[in-house]
Amino acid sequence: METILDPFDAPPLNWGFMGPGGIAATVAESLVKATRQRLVAVGSRSLERAEAFARRFGAPRAYGSYAALAADPEVDAVYIATLHHTHFPLAVLALEAGKAVLVEKAFTLNQAEARQLADLAGRRGLFLMEAMWTRFLPHMIELRNWAAAGRLGEIRYLQADFGFAHDYDPTSRMFDPAVGGGALLDRGVYPLYLAADFLGLPSRVAASATLAPSGADAQFSAILDYPRGQALIESSMIVTTPQEAWLAGTEAMVRIPARYWSPTGLELHADGKVETWRRQVVGAGYEFELAEVARRVSDGATGSAVMPVAESVELTGLLDQIRGQIGVVWPGEAG
Ligand SMILES: NC(=O)c1ccc[n+]([C@@H]2O[C@H](COP(=O)([O-])OP(=O)(O)OC[C@H]3O[C@@H](n4cnc5c(N)ncnc54)[C@H](OP(=O)(O)O)[C@@H]3O)[C@@H](O)[C@H]2O)c1
Repeated sequence: METILDPFDAPPLNWGFMGPGGIAATVAESLVKATRQRLVAVGSRSLERAEAFARRFGAPRAYGSYAALAADPEVDAVYIATLHHTHFPLAVLALEAGKAVLVEKAFTLNQAEARQLADLAGRRGLFLMEAMWTRFLPHMIELRNWAAAGRLGEIRYLQADFGFAHDYDPTSRMFDPAVGGGALLDRGVYPLYLAADFLGLPSRVAASATLAPSGADAQFSAILDYPRGQALIESSMIVTTPQEAWLAGTEAMVRIPARYWSPTGLELHADGKVETWRRQVVGAGYEFELAEVARRVSDGATGSAVMPVAESVELTGLLDQIRGQIGVVWPGEAG
């Protein structure tokens, strides 16, 4: 059984953030409010942007290049919060500088990159993890405990979606294949990783998509097949969807209310009764993944059992398979 630990109790690490954009600010807010982690440096392609971010969150140092951040000897762990197409080169930069690395989702553009990162971290004996923050949230820990205790019985079905409507803009990171844009990598990873957490890797996938004029997937659906069940996955950038998840087992059903991928509760439906579970959190929820990295790095571990890098490699392969079926090709990849 897993225990829900207070992120505030995790030993402090010195963090360097690469890419002072939207998610970096949200994660920094959680870091400051709900952990004892220390943001010691920020790196950006622009010194001004790095300085503004450092001022806002009280980081002592700002750098106008990612290489300078990676070279900072006081940084223990680098959080890569840049766009998808830069995750691989920046993770290589940070690992080659000897840092523990937390890489935003989606981990890399394709499985070949994911494998190279896993190999590099393995050779160097360094910590590496994809920032799939949902897995570390209290309700997900509780649900894994329910599943392990047999409360759901055998899980035979899962359904999850993740859609927010955006106006089409071929220059936005959401719709630009040149930066790894599209529903699959931006948000489809949440329901896919949820299915993998409870059902493992599928034996087969059948995917279908609506492509934007830019070639990015604006919306996709996938049926994941398992020896004894299915998962239905949906993700969209053109409509807002309920963002609930349901798991059905032979003993009970569980509803994870909207937005299941962020701090929320659980409902267990069995024998005509509904049992609810909820835990208040202090930050926006990112404090739990930061605390996991801090605990594992201070234990000397090279990864997390909750979001192992080997699973990121496998699931990036599943994303490749889905892209193959829906016709999404990154520039430079053979079509
Ligand atoms: N975990 C979550 O809840 C969550 C939520 C949203 C996004 N994300 C993930 O976080 C990552 C960043 O998303 P975001 O919304 O924060 O993006 P963003 O604010 O648009 O950009 C993040 C940073 O990426 C760098 N960047 C922007 N455009 C670039 C380009 N064309 N080439 C190279 N670098 C570029 C910039 O850093 P510089 O200052 O150095 O230019 C920017 O500050 C993505 O992997 C995304 O999927 C995660």
